[in-house]
Amino acid sequence: MTTSHPAAMAASNANAERSLREEFRRRFGVEPRIFRAPGRVNLIGEHTDYNQGYAMPAAIEFSTWVAIAPRDDAELHISSLNLGEERIFGSDETVPAHDWTDYVRGVAHVLGAGHGTRAGANVVLWGNVPLGAGLSSSASLEVATAVALLGISDCELDREEIALLCQRAENEFVGARCGVMDQFIAAHGEAGHGLLLDCRSLQYKLVPLPSELTIVIANTMIKHRIAGGEYNRRRAECEEGVSILQRFLPGIRALRDVSLEQLEEHRAELPPVLYRRCRHVISENARVLRFAAALRSGDCSGAGELMLASHESLRNDYEVSCRELDTLVSLAQKAPGTAGSRMTGGGFGGCTVSLVRNAKVAEFQDAVAEEYNRIFGVRPEMYTTHAAAGAGEVTREE
Ligand code: GLA
Repeated sequence: MTTSHPAAMAASNANAERSLREEFRRRFGVEPRIFRAPGRVNLIGEHTDYNQGYAMPAAIEFSTWVAIAPRDDAELHISSLNLGEERIFGSDETVPAHDWTDYVRGVAHVLGAGHGTRAGANVVLWGNVPLGAGLSSSASLEVATAVALLGISDCELDREEIALLCQRAENEFVGARCGVMDQFIAAHGEAGHGLLLDCRSLQYKLVPLPSELTIVIANTMIKHRIAGGEYNRRRAECEEGVSILQRFLPGIRALRDVSLEQLEEHRAELPPVLYRRCRHVISENARVLRFAAALRSGDCSGAGELMLASHESLRNDYEVSCRELDTLVSLAQKAPGTAGSRMTGGGFGGCTVSLVRNAKVAEFQDAVAEEYNRIFGVRPEMYTTHAAAGAGEVTREE
């Protein structure tokens, strides 16, 4: 079981940065610049971003670091210290490799074409966002790469543009039809705050998270992959739901524009599965707004009930949960100190997020991990975090 105390995290992040810098110097003989972007946990608002709805993610204290220096030629040399792999790409190679390098090359490609960033660079990567756990290790790699390439090219882009470009790289180069939430929070995270995001206008409000609660993430240890068919199928189902509803509600552009009353009124026109998919999205949008209001008024138990309702809707209507996620949520509900718990991210494995009273975090983790291990024969990794800051350059410690 992994636990992280903020002070310990800061120390280990500083060590990571130092080792990355030393490794870069050893390999290339020059001083790199270092950029970082965090992973994320979504507190509420799941599968709403690509329906132009609301979500409330927070950046976590786990990141991807990019050490970078320009090259004289146009080659991109990318190494991953986590994977122990190094790859070289010429500027004429524009075809995806269908592996981890696509996140870096996709961003380089989109930024190079649109903003003339440098093509040639030496890049060394290291990260501690758990891979394939639904905590957006890929968005953190994309956004860290974007700020790094912009940094060495002396180009400035605002954070919204960075998020949109990274989403485009993932949609077009990597081939996953994700929404904008993950890249947006990696670029905009603020310590101590959740970010209430309107995924249509991209306007956002920072919502302070209660200082008496810690975010505890529990990993089912089942890897998920959103390039997989189910995610894209859910998106297509939502689009189909909108096009059927548009026959009766011509003014709507997305499920964001439909109320639960309107959905009920036209229920008979929708196949049952599409009706349930739409009901999840529409009810989830309303829960996000109520969740933000509950946090603002200090109503932690109201916020917790909304997290549970979100999980149930994802399980029953959207059908993106699985037995392991459901088990973690029900164990969390019985554990000491829990305000709320739900699956987080795309689903089909990955992690749950729980808000737990600070004084009970250790007991909570022990109770959940032990029981999960007894049922599934595997210990779930647990990560504690507070909401963290978004992407930026890491200045060298003197
Ligand atoms: C993945 C996608 C996001 C979002 C979530 C589900 O994390 O990358 O854009 O759709 O799934 O809420």
